[in-house]
This record gives sequence, structure tokens and C-alpha cells, in this order.
Amino acid sequence: MENDLDRKMKRLDGLLEGWSEDRFEMTPLEEVHRVPDPGRPQKPQLVPPKDLPKRGLGTPEGHAALMHSIAHIEFNAVNLALDAVYRFQDMPKAYYHDWLGVAGEESFHFQMIREHLYHLGYEYGDFTAHDGLWMTTFETDHDPLVRMALVPRTLEARGLDVTPPMIQKLRAIGDKRGVEILKILLRDEIGHVEVGTRWFRYLCEQLDLNPFKAFQDIIQTYFHGDLRGPFNYEAREQAGFSQEEIAWLKTL
Ligand SMILES: [Fe+2]
Ligand SMILES: [Fe+2]
Repeated sequence: MENDLDRKMKRLDGLLEGWSEDRFEMTPLEEVHRVPDPGRPQKPQLVPPKDLPKRGLGTPEGHAALMHSIAHIEFNAVNLALDAVYRFQDMPKAYYHDWLGVAGEESFHFQMIREHLYHLGYEYGDFTAHDGLWMTTFETDHDPLVRMALVPRTLEARGLDVTPPMIQKLRAIGDKRGVEILKILLRDEIGHVEVGTRWFRYLCEQLDLNPFKAFQDIIQTYFHGDLRGPFNYEAREQAGFSQEEIAWLKTL
């Protein structure tokens, strides 16, 4: 819930330290609150996706706008990883370890992109942004199975598909540091999707569900958009998508 960027990242470091020193109280809370609006700075101003200006990479402003949109995703990703830790209270200890690890990596991503954006002459908050990632997080707060299917396995997995073409575009305009950062993001995001896949499968097993069918059912029931390619099959396979799922994605 911390609004201040620097304080938030600092407090997250404290949390990770507390975890590594085994200082967490693991007794489930009596009440878990819904979080329609997590802690974030006053800017960026949030607008509906259709109101986001479309800018090409051809101008310095367009280049910075792309970095800003990535910064916004990474910032939200810190919140969503922490929400997964806070909200779902009867998971095995390894689940919390995994999601705290994700939160730490998202914070690292955010700070790298923020710094790069700064070198391009802008700060996080200088452009508008949309709230889709958090909306889906909020809408999936009733069930860890639905959360794992839609947030890491659908939205973060989308990042695996779109990052390689973004890397090519940045390379084309000579943004070497941008290319370097996005490569790190892609590598780490494979891990985040894998965490989501692993806990999705765990929950399916607990509930005696067929994971292939459960994933399709959840997409049909809850996902607002179309599941659309092109997909990065190689990265998705590394992130734990089964052969059956890959074959299904190929039919979409
Ligand atoms: Fe990330
Ligand atoms: Fe991530």
C-alpha cells in the first residue's frame, strides 16, 4: 500500500530480508482485505487503454513512452506479486518464497527501466498509463487457481511473446542498454510464468482438476480479451506450458 516509489522499494527490501531471516509470522490473518487500489504514486495518470496515445519508436518521445509503459508494467508487477503473497493464505511455504522472489525481481526490473527512462530525459509518471494489469489482479482475488491462470500464465506470459519483437525494434534504433535490459526481463519473466504454472498445477492437483481443461475453462470464463498470437512457443515451453497447451495455442 506504500505510495512513495523509493520508500516502497526500500520496504520491499526489508520484507525480503525478513523472509530470508525467517522472521515471518505464518499464522493466517483473520481478515484479508480486497485491494481495488494498491499503493502507487499520484502520477502516472491512469486512463482507459483506448485513450493511450499511439507513438512510434521513431521519435525520442515515442522511445521514452515505450520505456515508460514497461516501467508501469514492472511497477504493477511488484504490487501483484505482493498481493499473491498477502491474499492466499493456505499455500505451502514454498509458494510465499516463490512470490517474494518474483516481487524482488520486479522491483529490480522497475528500477533498471526507471533509470534508463531517466537517461532518456523522462521520469516514471511523465506519460499516461492504463490499469489493466491491476484490474485483472483485483478481479481474480477470490481464487488462487484463477489468479495463477490469468495473471502469470496469461498476462505475464504475453510479455514473453511481445518482448523479442520489442528487442528487435530497440536494436534497430541503436538502444543498446534498452536491448540489454529487455533481455534480462525476458529471462526473468520466463521464471515468473513458470512459478505461476507450478502453483497452478499444484492447485489443480489439490482440487482434482485436469490442468489443461481447467486453464481453458478459466480463460473462457474470466478473460476479457482474445488469446492471440503470435506466441513465443519456446519461451512458453520453458515456462512450463505443456505440449498439449502449446498444441492448443497453435490452433488459436
Ligand atoms: Fe518484470
Ligand atoms: Fe514478472
